[in-house]
Amino acid sequence: MPLLSILVASHVAPVSGQCPGDQQSLLLQLKQSLNFSRSFSGNLAGWNSSIDCCNWLGITCDLVGGLVRVVGLNLSNESITGGLENSIALFSLQHLQVLDLSFNSFNTTIPTAVSNLTNLRHLNLSSAGFYGQIPSAVSQMSSLVSLDLSTLSFLGHFPQNHYSMQTLLLTDTNFSGKLPSSLGNLGNLSRIELSRCNFSGTIPRSLENLAQLNYLDFSSNNLIGPIPSLGLSKSLVHLDLSYNQLAGDIPAQWGSFQKLEYVDLRHNSFNGSIPPSLFSIPTLQKIQLSFNQLKGPAPEFFRTLKVLVLSSNRFNGTVQLNWIQALQNLTTLDLSYNNLTVDASGNNNSTLSSIYPQFGILNLASSNLSQFPELGNQSRLTRLDLSGNNINGVVPRWILETTTIYHLNLSHNNLVDFQVPISLPNLGVLDMHHNKLEGEIPIIQSSFSMIYVDYSNNFFNSSIPVDISNYLPYALFFSLSNNRLSGAIPASICNASYLQVLDLSNNTLTGTIPSCLMENIGTLAVLNLRGNKVHGSIPDTFQASCSLQTLDLSLNQLNGRVPKSLSNCTALEVLDLGNNMIDDVFPCLLKNNSSLRVLILRNNLFHGSTGCPHLPGTWQKLQIVDLAFNNFSGPLTQLYYQDSITVTSKGLEMELVKVLTVFTSVDFSSNNFDGPIPAAVGQLNALYILNFSHNGFTGQIPAVFGNISQLESLDLSDNKLSGEIPQELTELTFLSFVNLSNNNLLGKIPTGRQFLTFDNTSYQGNPGLCGSPLMKSCSDSNTPPPSGRKQGSGQQSLDWEFIIPGIGFGAAAATVMAPLIFSKKATRWCDDHIDRILMVLLPLCGFRYYTSNDWRRVQPEDMTEEYNTDLDDDDEEEEESYDEFGGRYCVYCTKLDMTRKMAIHDPKCSCHHLSRPVSTFSSPFSSTTTL
Ligand SMILES: *[C@@H]1O[C@H](CO)[C@@H](O)[C@H](O)[C@H]1NC(C)=O
Ligand SMILES: *[C@@H]1O[C@H](CO)[C@@H](O)[C@H](O)[C@H]1NC(C)=O
Ligand SMILES: *[C@@H]1O[C@H](CO)[C@@H](O)[C@H](O)[C@H]1NC(C)=O
Ligand SMILES: *[C@@H]1O[C@H](CO)[C@@H](O)[C@H](O)[C@H]1NC(C)=O
Ligand SMILES: *[C@@H]1O[C@H](CO)[C@@H](O)[C@H](O)[C@H]1NC(C)=O
Ligand SMILES: *[C@@H]1O[C@H](CO)[C@@H](O)[C@H](O)[C@H]1NC(C)=O
Repeated sequence: MPLLSILVASHVAPVSGQCPGDQQSLLLQLKQSLNFSRSFSGNLAGWNSSIDCCNWLGITCDLVGGLVRVVGLNLSNESITGGLENSIALFSLQHLQVLDLSFNSFNTTIPTAVSNLTNLRHLNLSSAGFYGQIPSAVSQMSSLVSLDLSTLSFLGHFPQNHYSMQTLLLTDTNFSGKLPSSLGNLGNLSRIELSRCNFSGTIPRSLENLAQLNYLDFSSNNLIGPIPSLGLSKSLVHLDLSYNQLAGDIPAQWGSFQKLEYVDLRHNSFNGSIPPSLFSIPTLQKIQLSFNQLKGPAPEFFRTLKVLVLSSNRFNGTVQLNWIQALQNLTTLDLSYNNLTVDASGNNNSTLSSIYPQFGILNLASSNLSQFPELGNQSRLTRLDLSGNNINGVVPRWILETTTIYHLNLSHNNLVDFQVPISLPNLGVLDMHHNKLEGEIPIIQSSFSMIYVDYSNNFFNSSIPVDISNYLPYALFFSLSNNRLSGAIPASICNASYLQVLDLSNNTLTGTIPSCLMENIGTLAVLNLRGNKVHGSIPDTFQASCSLQTLDLSLNQLNGRVPKSLSNCTALEVLDLGNNMIDDVFPCLLKNNSSLRVLILRNNLFHGSTGCPHLPGTWQKLQIVDLAFNNFSGPLTQLYYQDSITVTSKGLEMELVKVLTVFTSVDFSSNNFDGPIPAAVGQLNALYILNFSHNGFTGQIPAVFGNISQLESLDLSDNKLSGEIPQELTELTFLSFVNLSNNNLLGKIPTGRQFLTFDNTSYQGNPGLCGSPLMKSCSDSNTPPPSGRKQGSGQQSLDWEFIIPGIGFGAAAATVMAPLIFSKKATRWCDDHIDRILMVLLPLCGFRYYTSNDWRRVQPEDMTEEYNTDLDDDDEEEEESYDEFGGRYCVYCTKLDMTRKMAIHDPKCSCHHLSRPVSTFSSPFSSTTTL
């Protein structure tokens, strides 16, 4: 709307008074016909016959040749519902030049009668609920100079033939297909926004003709190929091509754009190096090139720069941090994840540091830093990421006393201590994992509550402070894994009742599991206590509301039975109880948990049959089963495996399926199973690893094993299998490990393909087998059987540690926001801080969030997932009050990269507007929570 008011101001000289009677009555008729609900603060409510219509809000009049006419009508954001069928009055306002119906809920098609308004110059129908086709009549409205149809569900044809068009705004529409090359005929076009549509194909070269262009936004489409040089667009100010699949070089001609201020090419496939001329543009303020394949040295930068984002490219060479002294207006610098070496050594003189710019965001992750930069007094820094460097020693005072920091990531360094206690009252996200910190776990007194705390992979060796949860009342993620912590798990941790992920794995914690963990924390999606010395039984206190997705209690000293209430956790995907002393029959109760994908009961005292004949339900999703080293017995009555479900969605879900498919495995080894191996195993054609060794299986190896086309590892050793080795096994082209030793197999060992690569250890202990690679030839039955029982040493084992956090955290990330956004119980504190939480957290989880005030005219620089914490913007936002949780968020079908703590987005995932009642908004989330 700022845009529109500027246009109105520049084209129409407004007057007030002496509204012509016919037009006043048309407007009153219009009001009558509309169903609107903004009872106060809306314009319409104040329209009444006792006031001259030129004085009504939303009406603009002008005076031409002594005649007053209504030329502007602004009905934006009046909460109008229903159609325009009865609004003949509207289309009779012959003099209208500006019509703004944006941000309503018309729920109808665009009336063709709009073309009766032949004087219309500015038409804004964005976010107004119109759908269907753009009437061809609109294409014939020859006076139109600005058209805003953003956020409409349009089908059909791109509006064409508007040679006088200056502004064309089609953001968030359903247009698709190629960009018409006739765009190049719109010679007056100065502003074009086609962001977040489904345009594909290349950008037409004809765009090079647009000499008036100053604002171009084609972000978040599927555009490919090189970009035109735009050589004539000398007045270009704003250029956003981010989130496409554009490739090739950045045109050197851009260096001649002497007004260019903003360039965003993030998330494309540009390669080559940055043309040096680009950095000589005196007006350039924001340049964002992250997530491309740009190479060469990091360029010299111009002094006007405010935002410089070059992360995740292939830039190489050394950057002296000193040069930033010249960039006095720099607020965001991101050089992370390149092949750069950032040299901060000339920069450790605190007397010089006062001349460094005041940063809002400084990201130098994975840039070979060997020491902390000394940046002196930073009064605006909200985000500092120095992770993945080679920094030794202690975290310096200047960082620990920069009170504005909200997000601090110093993970993956060699830090041993903090120079002074952390006193960062605004801290919300702290990532210190993978350092050499020792001693007590630092407690952070943030006035704002920590949201995310990761102390994992350090040498902390205290006990967990009893009052830890006082500092985590709203924490969602808390990890202390891989330290040397001892003592018991304090029950007070249960007060951190918003936790989604609690990871205390791989310490030396003792005592029992506090039962309140299962009772209090209804939001918990991942509970990982793996690799401690916790004893006692698993509390049987899982609530009906249990939302656990990953429960890993393996490698402890737990005994007792599998708690019955675990069947409440119907979202459970990963259950690892391996390597404990649980003494129970097969937990048939888990048949309730139909989302189970990974079930590990390895190395316990489970016994009895594995059949659950009386229970309905299937484990359709189960993909990894490990029952090895128990005392299960009897025949294999039931198969706990189904082929991996087909890939149903993009992004995260696919990643997950892929991960699981890769590791799909069945391990029933070292039990007392007997009877034949069911032929149905042969249908498991996504199986990678099959281990039935050390049981009492009898009968033949089913020939249908030849169908398990992905099989890489087959271990049937130490059973009582008989008959010949089926020739069909040679069909298994990926097979790299076979152990059939110590059975009663006989006949000739198959030859061909992979079978040529296995040595005799694969077959030992089968007196009846003959042929290569055994010494015994098949014609010679006198050779004594080889002796010696050898366990397959090359056996593949799974890296559970990798798989489980991968799944768990990914899954948690997808659901993490739902309760905070939608919970009616959100406290007042939450109300006050929700937007700040969302701003930090959604990016963490791979979402974007816009506050309700932002999303209407989001400036492209605010659309970044990571760079919207500019302090100035924050201040403005905090002054706003929110009467509702409106807003817009984008679900980015995201997978978290655990090593880089980075979200990998599928930018094609859709965005959603929160402008309707809360209950209708859970669906976008559930689309990613089906993991
Ligand atoms: C629009 O113009 C057409 C043709 O001039 C006329 O028939 C029609 O009634 C007009 N519609 C409205 C709503 O004024
Ligand atoms: C829009 O109108 C259609 C019928 O034309 C109706 O089925 C639908 O519920 C309406 N949608 C809203 C949000 O009012
Ligand atoms: C920095 O910003 C200020 C205020 O916007 C401006 O006056 C000044 O020229 C800028 N400095 C440079 C080097 O661009
Ligand atoms: C940067 O990489 C290029 C090859 O892409 C190489 O030729 C050049 O020497 C490298 N520069 C530095 C400073 O490592
Ligand atoms: C980074 O640079 C080094 C030498 O400077 C080179 O050996 C290495 O291959 C480069 N890595 C990438 C990803 O370009
Ligand atoms: C820091 O810089 C000041 C001013 O140039 C200089 O006098 C001082 O010796 C420097 N200190 C160190 C430790 O280099």
